[in-house]
Amino acid sequence: MPLNDAVIKRQTPRDDFTIDQCWDEYSRSEHAVWSMLYERQAQALKGRACDEFFEGLDHLDLNDGGIPDLEKLNKKLHALTGWEVVMVPHLVPDDVFFTHLANRRFPAGRFIRGADQMDYLEEPDIFHDVYGHVPMLTQPVFADYMQAYGKGGLRALKHDCLKNLARLYWYTVEFGLIKTDAGMRIYGAGIVSSRTESVFSLESGSPNRLHFDLERVMHTDYRIDDFQQVYFAIDSFDELFAATQQDFGPLYERMSTDKQMHSVTDILPADKVYNRGTQDYAKSGGRKANQK
Ligand SMILES: [Fe+2]
Repeated sequence: MPLNDAVIKRQTPRDDFTIDQCWDEYSRSEHAVWSMLYERQAQALKGRACDEFFEGLDHLDLNDGGIPDLEKLNKKLHALTGWEVVMVPHLVPDDVFFTHLANRRFPAGRFIRGADQMDYLEEPDIFHDVYGHVPMLTQPVFADYMQAYGKGGLRALKHDCLKNLARLYWYTVEFGLIKTDAGMRIYGAGIVSSRTESVFSLESGSPNRLHFDLERVMHTDYRIDDFQQVYFAIDSFDELFAATQQDFGPLYERMSTDKQMHSVTDILPADKVYNRGTQDYAKSGGRKANQK
């Protein structure tokens, strides 16, 4: 966990909350955890993650013997889309996060989970942040979407619509699915960095799978402690980017008065439904019950 990470502890973060990675100071066992997680996901994501994610992995060479050195990684990433990864000690305040995204910087945690936490952790570590998020940042349309999201976030702060925008991030950047000619595929970082949810999100009959709709998503609750009970699928990254190209001003105006919420199990008359979930997993007690 971050508090036990001596490299984080001894640094005073800069005004933008960044710290140095100090790559030379990762231990052999920390590098081994990365390699183990990488190998597991290589198996889990075959036929499940979208082509763009795999392309990103190839571009970045993230399986080079352990935790990536950001200096080397950033050279490749910057050449592709102008993005870079910056290191932060822990989750950063919303305005700091949005400012980084708006300037094509992705904040990532330095620490890596322990070998005893391979399947679940509460705070994102470098494996989630770099393996999960960065391959998609090599894709020009997705890279533009993330920057637009950062700019939209800075505006949302002024309109008290932060929760709405957080839901958009959750159901796209973290837990998004995409329809392809080969079938439904994963692009969300929260899924691609989790072996169990890689399978659950696509193959379980439990969750709802619905077509993405910007305003629908921005009014939908989500859960942070277990597998999602609803996933939203896009047809293309162009569709996702286009949805954010409208003027968010009137949207925020509407949302600041319209506080309607949909629960994670709702299916609305206007929804395009790919899978009407049984919700059996959640009803049976979810992670806690299934780990016993
Ligand atoms: Fe994330």
